[in-house]
Amino acid sequence: MSTTYPLDEAARRRAVAWAEAVAAGTSLVPGRYERHLLARYVAGELALHEVEELCNQAVYRVLYRSLAAPPLAEPMLAALLAQSREYNTAHYITGLLLHCEGHFAQLLEGPAAAVRALFAHIQRDPRHRRIVTLHAELGPARLFGEHSMAYAPVTPTELAALNGSAAAHSAAEAVRNPWVRQLVGLLPSPTDGP
Ligand SMILES: Cc1cc2nc3c(=O)[nH]c(=O)nc-3n(C[C@H](O)[C@H](O)[C@H](O)COP(=O)(O)O)c2cc1C
Repeated sequence: MSTTYPLDEAARRRAVAWAEAVAAGTSLVPGRYERHLLARYVAGELALHEVEELCNQAVYRVLYRSLAAPPLAEPMLAALLAQSREYNTAHYITGLLLHCEGHFAQLLEGPAAAVRALFAHIQRDPRHRRIVTLHAELGPARLFGEHSMAYAPVTPTELAALNGSAAAHSAAEAVRNPWVRQLVGLLPSPTDGP
């Protein structure tokens, strides 16, 4: 019979530091999302099995496009992003928002219930209209695990390319577009999210 010994915060911190040191240089290096979960484990907010469950959960993805109503001024967009990143971090949602002259495209990914609930709110948001769901699917892994909501202003050509590749079979394929990957690679890690 196994016995569990409750660890205090310092011991949990040491355990995580040890695990990270062991994983260094391997494919198991935790990404931003995993680090966030581990920080919540250290703080005593999640049990280790919950961290594991969340890491192993299938990822539900929604890709949609919409039209801003009216076009959002830069400060309003910044406020929207800050609010989104805080909410998304707390609800294990990651993704990407692209914006071009009043047109949006957004990919949301995370636990199915959380993504569906957020998308329902987003669809009722009066700041945009003509919302078209391009893809909704389950996938094995996050595409934007490093970003509580990556953001990039794009050109009309780039947005048209994304809409064009949305005819692809999946959201994963659509955003695997090299220029989308490049945009996200160029973005600094969003430090304004917790
Ligand atoms: C284009 C667009 C993208 C959005 N993305 C997110 C998001 O990723 N996360 C988020 O919490 N809110 C996002 N929002 C804001 C939500 O629509 C909504 O304001 C927020 O969930 C609060 O919901 P409530 O006003 O019904 O309480 C987005 C809004 C727009 C217009």
